[in-house]
Amino acid sequence: MKFNNMTIYQIYPKSFQDTDGDGVGDLEGIRKRLSYLEKLGVDCLWITPFFLFHQYDNGYDVDDYCAVNPDFGTMEIFENLVKEAKEHKMSIMLDMVFNHTSVFHEWFQKALAGDKYYQDFYYFRKGKEEGPPTNWVSKFGGNAWEYVEKLDLYYLHLFHKNQADLNWHNPNVRNELKKVIEFWIDKGVKGFRFDVINLIGKPKGEFQDDFEGDGRRFYTDGPYVNDFLKELVRDTRLAEMITVGEMSSTSPEACIQYTNPEEGELNMVFSFHHLKVDYPDGAKWKLMEPDIEKLENIFTKWQVKLQDGGGWSAWFWNNHDQPRAISRFGDDETYHNRSGKMLANVVHFLRGTPYIYQGEEIGMTNGDFRNIDDFNDVESTNYYKILQEEGHTSQEALHIIKERSRDNGRTPVQWNGEKNAGFTTGEPWVKVNDNYKDINAENALKNSDSLFYHYQKLIRLRKEYPVISEGTYIPLPLEAKNIFAHRRKEGDTELLAIHNFSKEPTELAFSDEIKELFSDSKPLLSNVERRTFKEKILLEPYESTIFIKE
Ligand code: NOJ
Repeated sequence: MKFNNMTIYQIYPKSFQDTDGDGVGDLEGIRKRLSYLEKLGVDCLWITPFFLFHQYDNGYDVDDYCAVNPDFGTMEIFENLVKEAKEHKMSIMLDMVFNHTSVFHEWFQKALAGDKYYQDFYYFRKGKEEGPPTNWVSKFGGNAWEYVEKLDLYYLHLFHKNQADLNWHNPNVRNELKKVIEFWIDKGVKGFRFDVINLIGKPKGEFQDDFEGDGRRFYTDGPYVNDFLKELVRDTRLAEMITVGEMSSTSPEACIQYTNPEEGELNMVFSFHHLKVDYPDGAKWKLMEPDIEKLENIFTKWQVKLQDGGGWSAWFWNNHDQPRAISRFGDDETYHNRSGKMLANVVHFLRGTPYIYQGEEIGMTNGDFRNIDDFNDVESTNYYKILQEEGHTSQEALHIIKERSRDNGRTPVQWNGEKNAGFTTGEPWVKVNDNYKDINAENALKNSDSLFYHYQKLIRLRKEYPVISEGTYIPLPLEAKNIFAHRRKEGDTELLAIHNFSKEPTELAFSDEIKELFSDSKPLLSNVERRTFKEKILLEPYESTIFIKE
């Protein structure tokens, strides 16, 4: 399936639209908003898990991959959603959480009851004298092994202790997961996003302690993952689907392997290095301003390497695990509209498939959480405790959580200026941002200069100009601080993309080569009144202009 010229929209159903007043979004809510999404123009809706689960990780703790959680609706509603989405010219992508199941999954329950067949679905290991089998750290904090007294064994959980890692070395596990894929393809699903899929190739046999890090080097992009993926594609209809893998702490080399079409693995990958440029020395729970030079280097490195190696990326700023980019890299007050458009342009003009996360198209900002009880996410509440154990005061810990919490991306979508932003008539499961009276979809649709119409235009331009969907990426290193610029080229058409990440006006002078190349270019799109290309440009704060030469 062609995915270069597509734009994919991510829906986190719990926060999208509630229709039954229980304060939790539902599948009916997605149906209700199909016309809005069609108007935006996106091609495919990635819906994060709405299967049966226990809510320890909002759906990423699956109890049954083939059942719809009654909080979200029924299978019949889902089937209607698939049909209606098609009538609105959109396809559906589902989220497959195949690195782990919840401990309430039937397989794990049987394993706990002593069934050896199902124990081999997971990583059960004997402990060492002094405790767990290894010193690996869970991504949500604490040791990655949980002890089961009854069995006198530990099981591996790289995430929450109620998310047990699946043993992909067992062919029975792989066969069960293939059935899940086929089940959803039969329901009319056209795409799959694979959760932390580069963690499935763990070592065989005994695991070792990690004395250099938290254990990730033993299981990330491991030696078996590519064979596992190839087999999954070979034995299902995945090759006819759009596929994207979420890759944790990965490398461009590994991602070329995952996505080069000759390998028969995945269409594209999410990587996260560009969203760690405000983590001092990689530490998520410490604060700093984003390092734009680093961001630029990461974009350049990934663009060039994947292009040279025949790989393909999925690009995004926001998802349900990230604070809102407009609050992080833009200015969500003075330059709300302009910095939102700048960030949109960055992602949509890179070589790769762009993803929009719900609410991004109207410029939703970080949540306005006041105290720790406003937070819901397991990672945030765990780290609130851990930060205090490490010596932070409760005020400091709260400040860090407010900046970093995944709940920032999970506040309800702001549809209008009515109670609870039109998300629910009940009590919302997580606090609605108080800025909903200004920032909401209804206002955006009334304003022809809104971010919504800017995204609409970006989606349309991608279909009109092959240089955007297919063009070669050419880096353009510049002296100017906080400016990210590059070129794209396809046949005789060339683009010059310039993005100012600063609140300050910044002067830019081009080399003779660029002057000559773009002297008769015109702006294709800009978030300011920019009329012509000049050899020297005074960029406005957060300006983003794309020049085109045809
Ligand atoms: C990545 C998902 O995006 C995140 O929300 C989840 O907590 C982990 N994988 C574990 O499934």
